Amino acid sequence: MALSALVSQFSMSWASVALVSDSVNMSMTDHVLRVQADLGELREFYNIDIAPRRYDALNTYHEDELGLLKKIDFEGLDQEGKVDYILLRTFHTRQINNLDLQKSSQEDYEILLPFADDLIELLEARQDVKPMVAKEAANTLNGIQKSAAQASKKVQDGGFNVTETTGYLASKAITGLLERLAEWYTFYSTYDPLFDFWVTTPWQSTNTTLTEYLTVVETTLAGMHQEGEQDAVVGEPIGRAGLEVELKAEMIPYTPEQLIDIGNQEFEWCEKEMIAQSKALGFGADWKEALEHVKNDYMDPGKQTEYIRELVVEGSNFVTERDLVTVPPLANSTWRMTMIDAERQKVSPFFLGGPVIQVSYPVEEMEHDLKLMVMRGNNKHFARATAFHEMFPGHRLQLYMADRYNSHRRYMFDTPFFVEGWALYWEMLFYDRDDFHTSPEGRIGALWWRMHRCLRIIFSLRFHLGELSAQEAVDMLVDRIAHERSNAEGEVRRSLEGSYSPLYQAGYMLGALQLWKLRELVVDSGKLSEKEYHDAILKTGMMPIEMVKALIMDDGLSRDFETEWEFYDFD
Ligand SMILES: *[C@@H]1O[C@H](CO)[C@@H](O)[C@H](O)[C@H]1NC(C)=O
Ligand SMILES: *[C@@H]1O[C@H](CO)[C@@H](O)[C@H](O)[C@H]1NC(C)=O
Ligand SMILES: *[C@@H]1O[C@H](CO)[C@@H](O)[C@H](O)[C@H]1NC(C)=O
Ligand SMILES: *[C@@H]1O[C@H](CO)[C@@H](O)[C@H](O)[C@H]1NC(C)=O
Repeated sequence: MALSALVSQFSMSWASVALVSDSVNMSMTDHVLRVQADLGELREFYNIDIAPRRYDALNTYHEDELGLLKKIDFEGLDQEGKVDYILLRTFHTRQINNLDLQKSSQEDYEILLPFADDLIELLEARQDVKPMVAKEAANTLNGIQKSAAQASKKVQDGGFNVTETTGYLASKAITGLLERLAEWYTFYSTYDPLFDFWVTTPWQSTNTTLTEYLTVVETTLAGMHQEGEQDAVVGEPIGRAGLEVELKAEMIPYTPEQLIDIGNQEFEWCEKEMIAQSKALGFGADWKEALEHVKNDYMDPGKQTEYIRELVVEGSNFVTERDLVTVPPLANSTWRMTMIDAERQKVSPFFLGGPVIQVSYPVEEMEHDLKLMVMRGNNKHFARATAFHEMFPGHRLQLYMADRYNSHRRYMFDTPFFVEGWALYWEMLFYDRDDFHTSPEGRIGALWWRMHRCLRIIFSLRFHLGELSAQEAVDMLVDRIAHERSNAEGEVRRSLEGSYSPLYQAGYMLGALQLWKLRELVVDSGKLSEKEYHDAILKTGMMPIEMVKALIMDDGLSRDFETEWEFYDFD
């Protein structure tokens, strides 16, 4: 980096000191962007997930920000500003609650990491660029290596009685430490001759022992890599307290049990419809036979991509011709298509959308049965019932708009209730109309997905409540809606292994039901036309649906807003 760039960075930091002192008077948009940028810095610097100082820094930050919000003149804000205020307050509160929950689950697995404090100290010294004292570092590593070897032996001797979840969390923590330790080594190695003399050998044996220990924890405690079996699907249940934090943050005023009831009630509706469609095809009340017929209607190898392209264009034209929502020509003309490789299909068995539609389809080296499963899972009717969910008017259109309107909310307030809720809302709307699904096969394809979204509520909440294992979730998908087993495993893996938020799967159906209810209030009442309603949602930016409602309906809002909108009619 050139010297002038360094100087300007230096003076920037003075400018930011000045900014903080008058941040009470910043626009709410700037507040949101500032917090996003601040958190970027904090998370990059405090890059060890389990380090106490990371917890402290983040906790202090969120507490300070809540204090700052209190100083803002809420009543003086316009409606958009009030919404940002509430979103920020909700955001910081959720982060603090989640940090506390993480801290307490960490207490469960700490005994498995007796070397963690020493290791974290080494890694933090590198982050702080403290002088390297090679002989001391070698001593520390030597101690860490011995401690890990002992822990490993104790685990193999059955000396720890912990749950699979605790084992799984410990394995994730070790993985994180190993990554940082590799980076630590490359930072010094060969730049510093004394480091090489003292540290290289103990570092290598520490790395080897820790890597072996990781495998021991994964197999012995977390139930992974079992011999002769495919990798077990494991995950991390967040418990009732965790769910409550998340529900509050998503502004859902129901208990997990009530939400499971919603899943069941919607499932029953789907099943009745399914039977009616099955009868229309001549299969009678056993709708799974009708489903079998639908699944076996798939495109031949080599033809799937062309077919998906037609479906994407169909979705775009359908909403444009009927004046349902605005499709900007640039969004319409620059979307792309790629293929999902065989390995990734294990967690992503169906296509995915956004700027790029990613297609799942069998590849040559798949075993024969798997090939057929993948084709059946991506049959013509399942694909047609969701290509528009992925692209137009679904994710492609929505993300395109989110990058351009109120884009400060795009990453800070991203939520599955908005993202997946919107896409599934369109599935409901298309099902409700009589000019999109014109055959029983088409309706069966659509209903299968809708049942699947109902089960997503049920299995993900019950999993997080600790009532259902990941394997039982797979079985539920297979037994209740004849999910192809390979796809069901991918699905469950994707939802429970930590990269998706715990309410992600519940967000589809619940977000859609919220938008459906809001439609009653806004469109059925004549306040807005259908197109105006849809365009308005796309321009609010990302947020929980109750805040979309507050913007569109101009609801009165108070500084200490709590969720209260009951959007569902229970039987
Ligand atoms: C913020 O704005 C108010 C009213 O416009 C003004 O009285 C106050 O001095 C400002 N505060 C700062 C820190 O600039
Ligand atoms: C392990 O812990 C569980 C639950 O705390 C307990 O029921 C069980 O008896 C313990 N097993 C052993 C071998 O200590
Ligand atoms: C650490 O050890 C493992 C297992 O021996 C090895 O696969 C890995 O390459 C090592 N890491 C580095 C950065 O050398
Ligand atoms: C979208 O693209 C399709 C296919 O190229 C085209 O037929 C249609 O007119 C376009 N619609 C809009 C709104 O640009």
